[in-house]
Amino acid sequence: MGLKPATNPDVESATIELSIDGKTVAAKDGVSLYDVISSTGKIVPAMCYHYTFDPFGSCGMCLVMQEGKKAPVRSCTAKATAGMIIRTEGEDLFLARKKAVEKHLSVHPLDCPVCDADGHCELQDMAFQHGVTNLPNAKQKFIPEDTRSLVLDFNMNRCIACAECINVCKDVLMIDALQFMKKGGFNQVVAKGDVPLSCEFCGDCLAVCPVGAITNKFSKYLYKPWQMKKTTTTCNYCGDGCQMYLETKDAEVIRVTSPLSWKNKWGDRADTAKGHGGICVRGRFGFEYIDGKDRLQHPLVREGNQLVQKPWLETMHLLVDRFTALKRKHGADAIAGLITARCTNEELYLFQKLMRSVLGSNHLDSSARYGHMNFVRASKHAVGLGRTPNDWEDLTKAKAVLLIGSNITETNPLTAVRIKEAIRVYKAQVATFDAAITNMAKLASHPFVIRPGTEGLVIDGLVKATIEQDLVDEEATAKHPQAFQALKSALAGISLDQIAVQTGVPKEAFRDVSAIFAEAPRSIILCAEGIVRRQNGYQNVLKLIDLAWITGKLGKPGCGVNTLTEEPNEQGAVDMGVAPEYLPGQAAFNDPAARERFAKAWDSALPAVSPGAHLVEILKRCKSGQIKALYVIGENPLATLPASMEVRAALEKLELLIVQDPFLTETGRHAHFVLPACTYAEKEGTFTNLEGRVLRVRQAMDPVGDSLPDWHIMTALANAMGSHWDYQSANDIQAEIMKLLPGYYNLGQPRKVAASPDAYLANGYVAEVAGRYRNPSTSQDGKRPFALVMGQLLVHSGKLSTQAPGLIKLTPNTGRLRMNPQDIERLGLKDGEKVRLISDRGSLQLGVQPDLSVAPGTCFFPEHFNEPPVKDLMTVSVDPTTGVPSFKLTWVGIERA
Ligand code: SF4
Ligand code: SF4
Ligand code: SF4
Ligand code: FES
Repeated sequence: MGLKPATNPDVESATIELSIDGKTVAAKDGVSLYDVISSTGKIVPAMCYHYTFDPFGSCGMCLVMQEGKKAPVRSCTAKATAGMIIRTEGEDLFLARKKAVEKHLSVHPLDCPVCDADGHCELQDMAFQHGVTNLPNAKQKFIPEDTRSLVLDFNMNRCIACAECINVCKDVLMIDALQFMKKGGFNQVVAKGDVPLSCEFCGDCLAVCPVGAITNKFSKYLYKPWQMKKTTTTCNYCGDGCQMYLETKDAEVIRVTSPLSWKNKWGDRADTAKGHGGICVRGRFGFEYIDGKDRLQHPLVREGNQLVQKPWLETMHLLVDRFTALKRKHGADAIAGLITARCTNEELYLFQKLMRSVLGSNHLDSSARYGHMNFVRASKHAVGLGRTPNDWEDLTKAKAVLLIGSNITETNPLTAVRIKEAIRVYKAQVATFDAAITNMAKLASHPFVIRPGTEGLVIDGLVKATIEQDLVDEEATAKHPQAFQALKSALAGISLDQIAVQTGVPKEAFRDVSAIFAEAPRSIILCAEGIVRRQNGYQNVLKLIDLAWITGKLGKPGCGVNTLTEEPNEQGAVDMGVAPEYLPGQAAFNDPAARERFAKAWDSALPAVSPGAHLVEILKRCKSGQIKALYVIGENPLATLPASMEVRAALEKLELLIVQDPFLTETGRHAHFVLPACTYAEKEGTFTNLEGRVLRVRQAMDPVGDSLPDWHIMTALANAMGSHWDYQSANDIQAEIMKLLPGYYNLGQPRKVAASPDAYLANGYVAEVAGRYRNPSTSQDGKRPFALVMGQLLVHSGKLSTQAPGLIKLTPNTGRLRMNPQDIERLGLKDGEKVRLISDRGSLQLGVQPDLSVAPGTCFFPEHFNEPPVKDLMTVSVDPTTGVPSFKLTWVGIERA
């Protein structure tokens, strides 16, 4: 119906005036009358309307009187026009709305006591509000419950046919998995085709259902809404940083709900650009690990071959004795630490402070090293900005989006919804370049499946096509003529024809996409795993910055080069200084002024200016015996890294391995000390999401067993080692960070930042760019014709989600290799048949599984699972500038076993 939002960056709708209950109200011409009424603070009852999607107009509740009309009008579907005179209250309207409630209730079961929505049901509220007590003609539908879906049950006896579920799925999520179907004489909601629901399982349909017609299998019959404690917090699965409610009863997590719900339908449509308040399948159904049976409950200390349960005090005494003796004997350089970017900012800050000021070592790293560091380092180097410049609103309102090397609906599903809104509402042109057939490609205006590993060449093609077609921004390039000349020279030997052959993207496509990108007023580049987690990641980000520069998109509002963070706090890990090259605030570790400031604040000398070891180097030094003690918080290198990195040998060489984690991980099983840590649900703190927004993590329940928050354990350890840390809570740590990094906590708003390339283009660029456009060719040969890609699935996140039974139920490890059905057929294989997968690193046997999202010539195995150990077939290459190890793509042969 095109009602939303009438005003956008391209169209400024006229401001009109109309009268509502005797008051003159200004509004934008053409918006929903319901929205205008809501904006005055009046709440007109509504059951089928929600501000996030277009009105449907079925429930008959939002009635108002419009002067000049005899009958009441439905305000949700009516458009505001100049001069309208509207009345929203009166006996006539009350009776008309009451009639609508009676109509719905006359075919609705009165099973409130056993309904999950009891106490949280709009129909129930409306019946109370309108005094509906008597239903002489009530009849029941007696429709059997549809329990075929793995996460949701559909009870169509309770459905009021408002279509909110169908509309949110079709309109907002663009998944379109539901439909009405006439069955047994009633209009019922069913999965498209009346089969078991197979969709992205985000549960947004459940969230907006105003009655108990869609129920959550995970929490059915377990609660009444008023029995639960509801804690607003930030999701711990990905960098989108969605806000969610953890609902708990005593020590049990019962369910997760979202700000999106029928209860918050009175929003401003223009605000949907900042997010619609939904969450994804991981956020909604991946909570069971929090209070799961496998949580570590007590500290464990190695005695011989065994890990033996000990009390905290004894454990800490033993640990401090070992640490102190080791430091005395071998020096601080023999100590290193790794921490997960699933920890809070306060914990990450404390970790680097502990490593540097207490243990005296600068050998420290976080999981941001697995890829995000390529983006941070390149962006900081070129434009002085160690994070993304654009927020969700910029992304939503973009007119051109270049999505390169990203399966965004799988890794960052809610950022993906922003792109969907950009397509649907703001009519953005979206070009996707990925080696998989992604969901976003199905919606994009310019989708391209590229040959695996050629993301860098695609960028070469785009830069080349921009210059060839003279699409350059005169102002941006004229400011730095030498740099521009150097870029042109660097590209001189590159031919679009050749790139087209190498990448599989037609030459014309490079021309079209570069023109769209250059000519759009708001153009955004979004790169992810296919760039930052792959070989040449650092250089490829720099090339994207070149593209943005020459098209005038650097530093321009609503434009920029961005990335996605897979873990919730990768940005925070870098900002808090958990990297040998950075102090907090991304100050260079060897910057004398910064060193002095932190040394003073911490009342301690910093480790000497020498290159500290990053993740790969730490593991190397563990293996060589230089590093003898490793403190690992929430990381699991043994399960993550390929065998060729010899992590096991490195860990076995250690004199002291401490693993702090909510679970006993593969790495933990090799440890001398295992310290039980809390999950995010049991602690306070903040995460910094991919937009740079600092978001609150709030404690929803008491710690499980004897587990403690990571900050608490680190504080105890520092004090036991002779420091005087006085942190009683995460707030105390936050207060310290606030003093050292003023403005970092920004009350939930991304800090506005602008890219500025001038210094870089004027100094050093000319020399650097000369070697940038020489991509090594991919190492495909006749013997290894298939690209083996390891990557993320929508339902999972790292290894953490595999601890959540609900997510495992939805997507278990099949242990099979996913291949395009065409390839399976071409090799004469059958679904499930065993093959031998051969790489330069070895071979293993596993079954095959057809998967239409896998492009021909490619095969895929989810990175979350190690059974069979496909990761050990991967080769590792380490970025020479950033030390980022890439090991998600290799070339393999496939033979029938
Ligand atoms: S769970 Fe999400 S994707 Fe599935 S039907 Fe509901 S709204 Fe659509
Ligand atoms: S299932 Fe719920 S949201 Fe969907 S049409 Fe029925 S009442 Fe409305
Ligand atoms: S996993 Fe990411 S997209 Fe999903 S709810 Fe959590 S933060 Fe949001
Ligand atoms: S809210 Fe307008 S008809 Fe339902």
